Amino acid sequence: MTPPPNPPIEPGSGEDFLTPIHKGLRGMIYALADRLQSTDLADPAAAAPMVAQLRHELAGPRPTACVVCLLHAHTGGEDIFAFPGVRTFDPDLIDGLRREHAEIEAKIRTVARLGEELADASAPAARGRAGGRLLRAANDLFATYLAHLNREEEKLVPLLQQRLSGPEIVALGDAMERALRPDRRAELHRWILRSLDPPELAAWLREQRRRGPPGEFAELLAEGATLVEPERWALACARAGTHRSAAEPPADAGSTS
Ligand SMILES: [Fe+2]
Ligand SMILES: [Fe+2]
Repeated sequence: MTPPPNPPIEPGSGEDFLTPIHKGLRGMIYALADRLQSTDLADPAAAAPMVAQLRHELAGPRPTACVVCLLHAHTGGEDIFAFPGVRTFDPDLIDGLRREHAEIEAKIRTVARLGEELADASAPAARGRAGGRLLRAANDLFATYLAHLNREEEKLVPLLQQRLSGPEIVALGDAMERALRPDRRAELHRWILRSLDPPELAAWLREQRRRGPPGEFAELLAEGATLVEPERWALACARAGTHRSAAEPPADAGSTS
């Protein structure tokens, strides 16, 4: 029996809460990968901070500034909030993305196991071998995650825009934000601030100002003034119609945009 046709596609709203988050996640991955590959994992003294960081991140309870737990939290948020509303329109895509989430979780567990093996190895040759295995497994995780982010931006974002209204997409983005633990949300925001180009950063700042509360937005401005290069921050704040620091009065006091 032929399934009923999908309803006609409406013009896209252009709303996209996923891509700014993905850029923040990519920034986290690049920074961790850079640190991991430039550490001499065979040298116990040099490797100890890196291994301690990995152990800290990969073991529960997960801490705040945790790259891997933010990667994990993002996939969980999509499973709960972003996927169910559009699965009926493209079940192959959504089921494929869910399988990739499971694959990512398995690779996170592999990196955790190899981090433990490196920490337990004492002979230099054994440490060298364990370090190589850890590095390759981490690269494999990062490659899978980066390809997954591209696939979502190429396929999932357009599907959301075609099948959901602008307010529905905004509501999904708000729900995913609220579901994050506040300290992890603040950490993700720091990576997003570091990772967006000026027009994207301006749009994201306007979105965060809308989400509020005002106190949190003031903290975000203070973080941005510290974390973002001055020229990029000035450009973004000018486009967003906000001042560059929480210490300054907002240029658009009274605006609700
Ligand atoms: Fe995902
Ligand atoms: Fe995603």
